[in-house]
Amino acid sequence: MDPAIFAVLARKRAGAPLDDDAIRRVVRGAAAAPDEPDHWGDAELAAFLTSSAIHGLGSAEMHALTEAMLHSGTTWRLAEAVPGVVDKHSTGGVGDKVSLVLSPLLAACGVPVVMLTGRGLGHTGGTADKLEAIPGLRLETDRAGCLATLAQSGLHMGIASDAIAPADKRLYALRDRIAAIDSLPLIVASILSKKLAAGAAAQVFDVKVGRGAFLESLDDARRLAQLLVDISTDLGCPATGRITNMDQPLGRWSGHASEVLESLACLRGDPDASAAASDLMEVTFVLCEAVAAQVGAAVTRAQLEDAIASGAAYQRFVDWAKARDADAAWLDAPEALPLAPIERVITAPRAGRVASIDTRRLGELLIALGGGRHLPGAPLDHGVAIAREARLGETVEKDQPLLRVHLRAADDARVAAFADCVTLVDVDAALPDLRPTIVETVEASA
Ligand code: URA
Repeated sequence: MDPAIFAVLARKRAGAPLDDDAIRRVVRGAAAAPDEPDHWGDAELAAFLTSSAIHGLGSAEMHALTEAMLHSGTTWRLAEAVPGVVDKHSTGGVGDKVSLVLSPLLAACGVPVVMLTGRGLGHTGGTADKLEAIPGLRLETDRAGCLATLAQSGLHMGIASDAIAPADKRLYALRDRIAAIDSLPLIVASILSKKLAAGAAAQVFDVKVGRGAFLESLDDARRLAQLLVDISTDLGCPATGRITNMDQPLGRWSGHASEVLESLACLRGDPDASAAASDLMEVTFVLCEAVAAQVGAAVTRAQLEDAIASGAAYQRFVDWAKARDADAAWLDAPEALPLAPIERVITAPRAGRVASIDTRRLGELLIALGGGRHLPGAPLDHGVAIAREARLGETVEKDQPLLRVHLRAADDARVAAFADCVTLVDVDAALPDLRPTIVETVEASA
């Protein structure tokens, strides 16, 4: 045992703060190859992560960890090449397809957007997984490819290359094995290291709260949002945050191909799709305005609505997909993405009001149908889908549709499990106040 590593681990295990040098040593240990002298083994890194998850990290430690992780690999400094380019991060939720609508919409309003995203794990799908429902699309890119796509379409949504924040890749995989995924300070350093390594000029954080979010409590969501906003801003990327409602799926559809279709319909201004996804559009508009303001671009609601009405936002999405090699057949008919062929409609067993939707369970059931993964790299079924046909608080008649499910095989037990996710109460029963779509705004601490 190296006594210097032992001293760092013993100090953190005792709950004492680590100095910048010790934190940098940990991160070098995570990023170095096994044959390099700085390399730390999994046991040592796991000990650091567990102690950090138990005792937390102070503000200086979080800064140092984020900074060391962001410099553990290549940095793209995109804002140097594309001034005013913005980024958005969501903590994820069921049906959260905001990125697919926000990026082309902002690009159409003259604000370039770059989003390096990940593949999904757990009950919420990753943006990359949704986009990969489009045949042929190439999401992996290096800096030059990202800049070329930005020049062609004004946006890029891509997969973060392994060269970005390699220390995070190793630490994140270890956290998954040792039950340290849900540690707020480790989440902050993990998210920010990748975002800051890409180097947008400003960013907005969409921190979800509620039954379908990974943080169900408002206090936790507030803490995470404030940390993300403050540390990003301190490290040179001005940021703002919105805490948004995830008590029910966002928009009508959940499931990869169906979310692409819904996003395209909203970008086209389809009135039925936009009305059914009014919550999605509200979150998207608010985040567009918020992040544009961070780079001094006054994008108004009217401009955003015009970009949809004129077809400009839709065209940006298609231009981007073309730049990323989407199949010609898809480009000829973007709305032709197939859903899984068997459709089941879950109807209200009686008249009543929708009192709760077990949104997390809906996400888990979608995974069970093949629409998500618990293990990295596992294959996905892009066609399975759920439509939310009634919203929280809505009054429904007996036999009115509550949910619509698209699946590959008729499976009555699974369909029954979906039905259990929606709770009805009597029409005149008192319901707790529903959370608004935009719950709170979080700005950088003075
Ligand atoms: N996303 C990340 O990149 N890291 C985390 O720790 C959680 C979500």
